[in-house]
Amino acid sequence: MKPVNLQTKVTIYCYEELNSAEKSLIDKAKEATSRAYAPYSKFSVGAAALLQNGEIVTGNNQENVAFPSGLCAERTTLFYANSQYPDQAVLSLAIAAYTGGDFLARPISPCGSCRQVILETETRYRHPIRILLYGKEEIYVIEGIQNLLPLAFGSLTD
Ligand code: THU
Repeated sequence: MKPVNLQTKVTIYCYEELNSAEKSLIDKAKEATSRAYAPYSKFSVGAAALLQNGEIVTGNNQENVAFPSGLCAERTTLFYANSQYPDQAVLSLAIAAYTGGDFLARPISPCGSCRQVILETETRYRHPIRILLYGKEEIYVIEGIQNLLPLAFGSLTD
């Protein structure tokens, strides 16, 4: 028997503490919530991905009357980025959520399927993704998906 302690790290910032590039990525994720298609949940999520070439790609959640057919903002954004710029690593990903007429005070964190896709994107481009989770009162900054998806499929066999 050998217990293993897994550690994850999250750093909490307020908006004013971020640099201008980080603020701008978050602003783009916030803007992208306004283009979400979320008639069922009324929960609009936006994401913005900064690519190695400096391009910023945005996306949002796209729902469907057949619920499982919809897609989260993170995967919409990463799949779009990877489909349009297949040779560009994703450096960072900002996420914001808007519901009931306002942005949330505290961040939401990507669902399990999105974490798996973030991991695949990191692996594909051999580059960690800096994840910025926006909340009006707190912004969580996470340096790489291993902090959100420890013991990921594949990580024990590497
Ligand atoms: N959603 C996202 O787009 N990203 C997340 O990180 C969590 C949830 C979407 C899925 C669905 O359209 C709505 O938010 C409510 O769950």
